Amino acid sequence: MTSDVVKRKHTDLINQYRSKFPTSEVLYRRAVNTFPSGVTHVSRYMKPFPIYVDRAQGSRKWDVDGNELIDYWMGHGSLLLGHRHPTMIEAVAKQLRRSTHPGACHELEVRWAELVIEMVPCAERVRFTSSGTEATHMALRLARAFTGRDKVVKFEGHFHGWHSGLAVCTDPPFEQQTPPGIPRGELDNLVILPPNDIEQVDEVLSAGDVACVILEPTGGSFGQGPLKPGFLAELRDVTRKHDVLLIFDEVITGFRCAPGGAQEHFGVTPDLTTLGKILVGGLPGAAVTGRAEIIDLLSSSSHDERRISHAGTYNANPVSAAAGIATLEFIKGGKPIRKANEAAERLRKGMADIVAKRGLDWVVFGDFSFFHMAAGAAGADPSRLWEFNQEVVKKGADKDTIHAFRCGMLVHGVDLSGLRGWVSSEHTVEDVDRTLDAFGKTLRILV
Ligand SMILES: Cc1ncc(COP(=O)(O)O)c(C=O)c1O
Repeated sequence: MTSDVVKRKHTDLINQYRSKFPTSEVLYRRAVNTFPSGVTHVSRYMKPFPIYVDRAQGSRKWDVDGNELIDYWMGHGSLLLGHRHPTMIEAVAKQLRRSTHPGACHELEVRWAELVIEMVPCAERVRFTSSGTEATHMALRLARAFTGRDKVVKFEGHFHGWHSGLAVCTDPPFEQQTPPGIPRGELDNLVILPPNDIEQVDEVLSAGDVACVILEPTGGSFGQGPLKPGFLAELRDVTRKHDVLLIFDEVITGFRCAPGGAQEHFGVTPDLTTLGKILVGGLPGAAVTGRAEIIDLLSSSSHDERRISHAGTYNANPVSAAAGIATLEFIKGGKPIRKANEAAERLRKGMADIVAKRGLDWVVFGDFSFFHMAAGAAGADPSRLWEFNQEVVKKGADKDTIHAFRCGMLVHGVDLSGLRGWVSSEHTVEDVDRTLDAFGKTLRILV
């Protein structure tokens, strides 16, 4: 197809998008006077305007024009049980009638932490925070305080929130540059390595000045940059050999890969773990958990000179705790995880078949209840993508194609997070088949 034809097709698609979502456009015109680029999260930005959602239930959401959409954002990955799961809603409603913030200890926080300890292999103690970003920030402070060392190892393509200590090299190109607003020197103690090269990690740790290694245990951006099988176990051995702490950032994999997260699934137990999203069933909150002797550095009664003072107005908020308990109790037996995995598997397979039939150079991949697509990775075996250039896999496709693809899927009633998404236990076979229909139609218009 010539570039003129492609451009015309994209323009047609944007016009269809505008006519399907007119009230969203009106709201967006107000929003641009209020927020930078009209949005409140970097990944919600979309041209010509994002959709505005009115309500949601199960696997679906409805926008302000009444359009029904099958949702694969699922609360940025926090809604394994789908939107407004009845058990969760009931628990939250009950708590709202009792107290939204007692400014005091309460029973729900104790039960919530007990569930985390019961389910997550490394969890001996828990500290709740307000967001995953705060949890990874706290994990680094704990590791540095505990070991008395400053250096931290992170991997290219791995995302750990937006705080100054780790918000670097998450997207290609992976040249280490200090992002705007972070003081020069702040990242001097951050060592960024490519994933899957255990010899390089071994060499860096042998200097004896590293406090911890932090990573997403299914690969950068929940598996968009996959890990070599066995890499987690190798990391465990190498960190133990050098007496360095291993931190699994399970903000996104926690309670999704298994009731005890990726660490349960892969049988590798880290020293510390950060949790968020599903931990709170879609409400704000997160936690850091792990070995008692490390987390106990937060103890107010400790005389340890390494003690860290930690406040936080919304730590263990009881409404969040109520949502978290209801969600974790439901997930504990593993059934919702299996349901979501089955739906995701059907979706990945169906998408891969459509891509193959159309002869595209896209690859559809992922595991558990995640899916990803990358363009320009022709011939790559989805199960050996860790061998493939991570920059190509993580780039996905050119921006115009991703944008047109996203608009096309919305026009056909499906909301994806770019070339990826999260599947919930509420996605039915019918949802998946409708999504595949939308996928086929969108690709037909697009490429
Ligand atoms: C692996 C990982 N860590 C940390 C975070 C940051 O969590 P939050 O958005 O709650 O600050 C995210 C968010 O997507 C994440 O995926």
